[in-house]
Amino acid sequence: MKRHILVTSALPYANGPLHLGHLVEYTQTDIWARYQRLRGHDCVYFCADDAHGTPIMLRAQSEGITPEALIGRMHGEHLRDFTAFGIGFDLYHSTHSPENFAISQDLYRALRANEHITVREIEQAYDPVAEMFLPDRFIRGTCPRCKAVDQYGDNCEVCGATYSPTDLIEPRSAVSGATPVRRSSEHYFFQLGDFSAFLQQWIHSGTLQEEMANKLDEWFAAGLSDWDISRDAPYFGIPIPDAPGKFFYVWLDALPGYMAATQHWCRAHGRDFDAFWGKDSNAELYHFIGKDIIYFHALFWPAMLEGSGHRLPTGVFAHGHLTVNGAKMSKSRGTSITARQYLEHLNPEFLRYYIATKLNSHVEDIDLNLEDFLLKGNGDLVGKVVNLASRAAGFIHRYFDGRLASNLGADAAFYDTLLAQQEAIGAAYEGREYGRAMRDIMALADQINAYVDQNVPWLLAKDPEQRAALHRVATVTLNGFRVLITLLSPVLPELTQKALTFLRSPLNWDGLQQPLTDHVIEPYTHLLQRMEKPQVDALIQTPTPAPAPAAAAAPAPSPAPAVDTPATISIDDFSKVELRIARIVAAEGVEGADKLLHLTLDIGEAATRSVFAGIKSAYDPATLVGRLTVMVANLAPRKMRFGLSEGMVLAASGPEGGPFLLSPDSGAQPGMRVK
Ligand code: MSP
Ligand code: ZN
Repeated sequence: MKRHILVTSALPYANGPLHLGHLVEYTQTDIWARYQRLRGHDCVYFCADDAHGTPIMLRAQSEGITPEALIGRMHGEHLRDFTAFGIGFDLYHSTHSPENFAISQDLYRALRANEHITVREIEQAYDPVAEMFLPDRFIRGTCPRCKAVDQYGDNCEVCGATYSPTDLIEPRSAVSGATPVRRSSEHYFFQLGDFSAFLQQWIHSGTLQEEMANKLDEWFAAGLSDWDISRDAPYFGIPIPDAPGKFFYVWLDALPGYMAATQHWCRAHGRDFDAFWGKDSNAELYHFIGKDIIYFHALFWPAMLEGSGHRLPTGVFAHGHLTVNGAKMSKSRGTSITARQYLEHLNPEFLRYYIATKLNSHVEDIDLNLEDFLLKGNGDLVGKVVNLASRAAGFIHRYFDGRLASNLGADAAFYDTLLAQQEAIGAAYEGREYGRAMRDIMALADQINAYVDQNVPWLLAKDPEQRAALHRVATVTLNGFRVLITLLSPVLPELTQKALTFLRSPLNWDGLQQPLTDHVIEPYTHLLQRMEKPQVDALIQTPTPAPAPAAAAAPAPSPAPAVDTPATISIDDFSKVELRIARIVAAEGVEGADKLLHLTLDIGEAATRSVFAGIKSAYDPATLVGRLTVMVANLAPRKMRFGLSEGMVLAASGPEGGPFLLSPDSGAQPGMRVK
């Protein structure tokens, strides 16, 4: 029976480039959608840029362009990257679209008519210079716990403390630098609690992964509070009906963005919107998301749908996050790899394959280990799959005019053992157990390679008496290759297309039952180039593009050329170095080391630091006691022959002389941070 299926991936924010973490999700969804189409189902895949909100408004301001211009440019960049990675959306829309304005406002009106909206005054931080309310992340100040300066309004990156912006010492607006004031305004709330009983039942109705449902139970236990869905002007978003100066909080119009994309597509293709989203829809609806946005998709969204008379999702599937070489992606470590950077060096299908090998149906983080990535991509796809075609095709063209044998003869049974796995592999795709599917497909590839090794076609080729056997073996090998390609096709659309052109065969799941026989194939041309190690290494070394200038009058040209030299470090790198003013409280020579002085440093905390410094040639230890200098305070302690060195003092030197110990102007105190 033909299924009607709508799938979505979460809508990426329009204020930054796509990175490899994003691609886990779009690849996961795309594979699933391609698998459904391969099975003959009607499956549409929609996504969009999430285009509203304060960060986008401010970024446009700092680039000196309108938000519309910014999101227009980002939409182009995102779509270009998605296309390069083979993500086959039926539509890549935007939440800043006429459809979404209408749908979000209608949804809100329905919720209001059903008395799920309430209004009350709340007090918030306000920037009196920029004349706007400030989200927490746009307030910066000194951490109340560890006193690190320039921390975000809700958490400290240095000590990890979480707090509210009112706890910050000397809070400042990141927009204007002004000190925020408290100001109250009316906010609109969605009463999530109205849906408590409904949601509790729904999340255990089998539509969510078990671990997701368990996570949600924790939130229930904490109680469902009202959701603040309004923001005051100035805000780049959708106006709230009958509420001048109020806009929907970005998430309120992001979720209906799924519907808006559907509507746009339905209008262009003469299809019925309600067949997907209406109460009586019998289409299946699936949302693929990352684990960080479960709350929005498994609580707010079903409540919004239920409260406005729409159907509910058939399934919400969360995946874990991507790490690179075992670590969270980080711009400063160079492990935050953008889609663009990857495309400069490598074929996207290797990443799609690697992601597939790592994915299962659970909410588990997955690691991109670059060494493993190189081995798997080359070993599996080139070594086990593509090589079969290049080896067998040579015989077919050299001895048989490019024509396959008229039957598989004695090896038909071997071909059938390959097909015996087809349904199980299909079921693994359906159940999002892609890792399992890839392992099973590679096991088939191993069997076909073993078949080739046992039948030694290169020896058969030497014996004119053995032409029939050679013809059979090469034909079976190429049919095995066709099975592998068909099974891999949801993961590798480009390789599939090339391989099927070579085989002159359409993509057809059920067609595998009928092997290609008495059939002319194209000459073999290269299907897939191996990866080389330097290309993979380059992923980590490519400098991340410089951040947008703080306040540029003219828009930055796009795409910005990479002008960073390899020695450049980001501000994030620099801010990891903790420099402090230190007072030298003791200094002495070190026995057996004629360049070193042993310094004891007071850095304003109860404890002192012991440091060995190579400055003896320039300083008499006695003259150093009492003076201030600058030290690296967070250098990992280093064991030296003479003892433990717990930091480093800073000194200048050059051909002209030195070392010259650095010292601060008068007034500096031990322990002060240097930046
Ligand atoms: N705009 C919201 C989603 C709105 S949906 C109505 C958003 N955008 S996002 O750009 O931050 O993330 C888009 C998707 O990419 C999310 O599902 C998110 O979980 C996923 N990922 C972002 N970083 C990721 C990793 N490092 N690893 C895996 N997925 C990641 O959230
Ligand atoms: Zn702190």
